[in-house]
Amino acid sequence: MPNHDLAVVILAAGKGTRLKSSLAKVLHRAGGRTLIEHVVRACAPLGAKQTIVVVGHQAEQVTPAVEPLGAETVLQQPQHGTGHALQITRRALGRAKLAIVLPGDAPLVRTETLKALIAAHRAGDAAATILTAVLADPSGYGRILRKSETAVAAIVEESQLTPDQRELNEINSAIYCFTLDKLWPALAHLKPNNKHRELYLTDTIAVMTAKNETVLAELAPDAREVLGCNTRADLAEVDRVFRERKRAALMDAGVTIQLPETVLIDPEVMVGEDTVIEAGVQLLGKTKIGARCTIRSGSVLTDALLGDAVTVEPHCVVARSRLDDHVIIGPFARLRPDNHLKAGARIGNFVELKNSTIGEGTKAMHLTYLGDTRIGAKSNVGAGTITCNYDGFHKFPTSIGNKVFIGSDSTLVAPLRIGDGAYIGAGSTITDNVPADALAIARGRQANKPGWASKKRRELAAAENPKKAKRSRKKSKARQPSKKRK
Ligand code: UD1
Ligand code: MG
Repeated sequence: MPNHDLAVVILAAGKGTRLKSSLAKVLHRAGGRTLIEHVVRACAPLGAKQTIVVVGHQAEQVTPAVEPLGAETVLQQPQHGTGHALQITRRALGRAKLAIVLPGDAPLVRTETLKALIAAHRAGDAAATILTAVLADPSGYGRILRKSETAVAAIVEESQLTPDQRELNEINSAIYCFTLDKLWPALAHLKPNNKHRELYLTDTIAVMTAKNETVLAELAPDAREVLGCNTRADLAEVDRVFRERKRAALMDAGVTIQLPETVLIDPEVMVGEDTVIEAGVQLLGKTKIGARCTIRSGSVLTDALLGDAVTVEPHCVVARSRLDDHVIIGPFARLRPDNHLKAGARIGNFVELKNSTIGEGTKAMHLTYLGDTRIGAKSNVGAGTITCNYDGFHKFPTSIGNKVFIGSDSTLVAPLRIGDGAYIGAGSTITDNVPADALAIARGRQANKPGWASKKRRELAAAENPKKAKRSRKKSKARQPSKKRK
């Protein structure tokens, strides 16, 4: 159904006192996004003429978070309650006939549910339709007072409940569809008759029903969709639901996830079929993983791009890097941003990479740092190799060709070029370019001194205990057959 007559209004001006935070409530994150971003995204497919976000507290931070998503903002300063927030949108709303109104702190609502709310509102020709839910523990929410099976009499805020009304467990989600020419007069009737001295949007319902307008309630299909985030505990619960939804979608798409409740996956992450994700993994940002990969326990991947059949062994950290098909990394590998590991490359334990390209089939298996380095195919980087890419002032590149052998514990001082097929002797400090197929050794020559160690030990013993040393010298002389006695 086209919604040319529809506007979306999201209320996001409040402070969120109960979170005890210096950050505005709607900018807190759950399920990998800010609360407000979830709400704007859920509304986008409704095809509304305009989306207005009411901003106030920390407007300068909230505005840049929503404008790139296509929303416009209206400033509510000071904030006199949810009813006041709606009042000040009147001019901006122009000629819209219907408005979907949502709080910026209830991010789990799904587009399908909003569509059903609009459809029920249109079908019932109502002045207002409220999305409601039945909760086992309704505390903290406004309650729905019904006057019949289908019609609503009023919403009563928690602080104003009579003892009898406390039993009511149908709650106000604060998501509504309003017919605007019925809403504006009702808003004009609001009085700040509550302990916060605010104008409550919820009070418009009683005003409407007193004028015999139709107010309907539409029950949310899943009560968890309306959870609001007023406290840190609410935030944790909402995050848990988002993570669960994402994992369920991936499992439906053919991904195996072990101990799913321990795995954290951001909303934009993509994973191919038959990939196995082990316990305690985090896949963050825009990470994209191919088919038949294995991401083992404790690994954290942010904005990583993995081909097919890639193995990430336990406890790897990968940031903004590309791993082509059949690459194996870890355990305990750290890939800082901007690496490209070509097909079949292997990066082992305690290896750190930064801004480096590792050629096809090339290996760096142990205790190595490669920064600003390009390595060709089928090369081998020995244990403990370090590229010295920084002189304290500038960064310099290292270029290593194909089929190069870098001996263990080599220090490669950049800028440096090592040609194809070259061989670096272990323990070298290489400061000059190495031509193709050459052997470079840059270390002190070895000298063996026979008997030096045993002589040293005797001298030390003598210095510590001269008498004992004299006796043992005599004894050993006595044992030796003298040439004279012969
Ligand atoms: C509100 C509803 C309550 C409902 C609950 C559902 C009212 C009076 N109560 O209570 O019936 O059960 O949501 O989550 O509406 N805001 C503004 N300007 C203001 C005040 C608030 O923009 O002056 C915004 C807040 O930023 C927030 C939203 O409105 O995003 C709701 O405000 P909040 O204080 O969270 O209301 P609740 O106490 O949760
Ligand atoms: Mg709230």
